[in-house]
Amino acid sequence: MIKKSPVGTVRKLTLSFTAALVVSCLSPAVLSAETDTGGEVEVLHWWTAKGEMNAADVLQHSLEQQGIGWKNFAIAGGGGESAMTVLKSRAVSGNPPSAAQLKGDDLQEWGMLGFLTNLNKVADAEHWDQLLPPVISRIMKYQGHYVAVPVNIHRVNWLWVNPNLMQQAGATVPDSLDAFFVAAEKLKAAGIVPVALGSDPWQEVTLFESIALAVLGPVDYRRAFVELDMSQLGGDKMVEVFRRFIAMRQYIDVKTKAMEWSDASAMVVHGEAAMQFMGDWAKGELTAMGKLPGQDILCIPAPGTQGYFTYNIDSFAFFKNNSAKHLKAQEMMAHTILTPDFQRQFNLAKGSIPVRHDVSLAGFDPCSRASAEAFKNSEVHNTLVPSLSQGLATSSYVQAAIFDVVTDFFHSKNADPEQAAHRLARAVKSAR
Ligand code: GAL
Repeated sequence: MIKKSPVGTVRKLTLSFTAALVVSCLSPAVLSAETDTGGEVEVLHWWTAKGEMNAADVLQHSLEQQGIGWKNFAIAGGGGESAMTVLKSRAVSGNPPSAAQLKGDDLQEWGMLGFLTNLNKVADAEHWDQLLPPVISRIMKYQGHYVAVPVNIHRVNWLWVNPNLMQQAGATVPDSLDAFFVAAEKLKAAGIVPVALGSDPWQEVTLFESIALAVLGPVDYRRAFVELDMSQLGGDKMVEVFRRFIAMRQYIDVKTKAMEWSDASAMVVHGEAAMQFMGDWAKGELTAMGKLPGQDILCIPAPGTQGYFTYNIDSFAFFKNNSAKHLKAQEMMAHTILTPDFQRQFNLAKGSIPVRHDVSLAGFDPCSRASAEAFKNSEVHNTLVPSLSQGLATSSYVQAAIFDVVTDFFHSKNADPEQAAHRLARAVKSAR
């Protein structure tokens, strides 16, 4: 249930065993998979919802057009927990895929194990340092070397709103947590489910982190979840975060059965729930369902987080292999991902915005344009924060400990906000 460290077991391997693994990655199966033209990439990812698949198709076709074969290694499950488990077992058996969707702190953990291809040659030739916002290039590097290529910028602190249901209930689109609770009460009184929420722990933490950002503000959010400052984690403001979080539960049709984030988005589209807290991959889903984001379904910053930007950066890392052809295909994939044309087409489908600021947003919907504007403003005002639920804020160990506390609290019959904040501080202290 709870997200565990994606590479936790791997990390415990001894260094010498790890080195042996890297060498044994050069399996004949991988080598024979190469075509006679530009080689082949086997790509592990978890983009299996409609909008996500459309985006993955853009990548596949861009590569195929250049003679690079695509071996699809898609593992269902939003947030990537299952994909990371599969990746770990493939790596441990000495047969990792050539490319994998890896992001945030996981890059440091895999980099430390020596699995990842150094991309400096492409990065230097194509001036990634100048091209990428510093907040992004920093994440892509392990010990100063590029080990991943960023695909997009997702904003996580969004609220998706069905305007018809709001109107039916006489509720106003909320711009603060207080206003949210007023609206939710009206919706509930009108017999409408105020908030759709899927069943995964990461989805609950998505809701939690938006409330945390509203209550703490960006400075204390970073102190708590990036710097792991005990007085923030166990302090009064964190108690308030838990208080607000649990107050939301009565407005959510809490699922006992498994439900994906995309099913929750569909509930908002089909008028079965009024709102969803979710990153803008939800927008890819709305677009795939023929809805116009910003009009049919509104996008507003999660209440109380206007002017702040919680980022989630998708990226691909490449696994070492001693075939020159294999390396060439990996470098071509890295190169392709940062081309302006790919950035446009991919992000139009995915719901995110390009990582390059020089890509035109003509034809992007109002939500993407608002996201790009918010990112730039947040860069200037230092109000960018990394997403906790998406593995951008802290190590997978600490993240798993936080997920445990937050989700146990959310499902507990006697949820006590003060105890939860103390538990949070203790759990982080022992996991770090
Ligand atoms: C995130 C990923 C997004 C989105 C989401 C739901 O982890 O970064 O691109 O696809 O999962 O699957």
